[in-house]
Amino acid sequence: MISSLTRKSFLTAAVLAFAAACSLPAAAQDDEHPGLDVIYVPTPHQVVKRMLELAKVGPDDIHYDLGSGDGRIVIAAVKDFKAKKGVGIDLDPQRIKEANANLAKAGVGDRVTFLRKNIFETDFSEANVVSLYLLSTLNFKLRPTILNMRPGTRIVTQSFDMSDWSPDHTETVDFDDNGYKGTRRVYLYIVPAKIEGKWSLESSAGKIDLDLKQHFQRFAGTATTGGKTAEIKDGKLSGAAIEFTLDIGGKPVKFEGKVGGNTITGTNWTAKKAS
Ligand SMILES: C[S@@+](CC[C@H](N)C(=O)[O-])C[C@H]1O[C@@H](n2cnc3c(N)ncnc32)[C@H](O)[C@@H]1O
Repeated sequence: MISSLTRKSFLTAAVLAFAAACSLPAAAQDDEHPGLDVIYVPTPHQVVKRMLELAKVGPDDIHYDLGSGDGRIVIAAVKDFKAKKGVGIDLDPQRIKEANANLAKAGVGDRVTFLRKNIFETDFSEANVVSLYLLSTLNFKLRPTILNMRPGTRIVTQSFDMSDWSPDHTETVDFDDNGYKGTRRVYLYIVPAKIEGKWSLESSAGKIDLDLKQHFQRFAGTATTGGKTAEIKDGKLSGAAIEFTLDIGGKPVKFEGKVGGNTITGTNWTAKKAS
């Protein structure tokens, strides 16, 4: 019954499955029938390729797929995009079996592992690329953990976004999977460095006190120097890369730098965290 649903609307199917899983009596959620948070629906291969392209997966990357299904995204990341390591996490033993069978055919050796675990009880902090095809509610639940990952970690999701965290990029991907045609919306998020708070910036223009208010990869705030306070404009983060503009002497001056913990280093300026 579930497989016939997969050919229809995943949104409807997933909502139904989510509701069904929530209402399953505890006794029914035994080892072979785990209490899944979302049913299995595979990502079409053309969409997998585009997700991995958007995440710019390459030889330096460790990729995790949370809810990895038949393993196709992890296997493609290692086989086609040369990621150094891939890990798929899925709670359903049937999916792990399928993923391991696909892995055996893929010839990527021991660079890929599939673990039968709950994504909410698994440490995936070693990843610098994470893919998700879950539900909005589940993305939202994972969001605090994701935002604590290393700045620059790429997160690709399909069909479901990250609520009020705007994507760094989103697009619609067409697919034709043996006559099953459709489109999927894909989203790329880059984990931003944490810069909320007060900073003391030293530059050729003198000392400037910054007070930054962060909203994911955007920020605003004030810059105070010589007793005058101005608004910070166009504050943006892409991982650890930071940029913003200040009006200095009536002229807009663009600041670009890299956040490394409590220091931000620019070409001819440095800022230290004050609080
Ligand atoms: C929509 S499918 C996505 C499969 C694969 N990522 C893809 O895109 O082809 C979601 C997967 O999440 C798994 N899943 C659901 N709840 C889970 C949980 N709490 N922990 C681990 N896996 C889970 C399901 O078994 C299913 O394989």
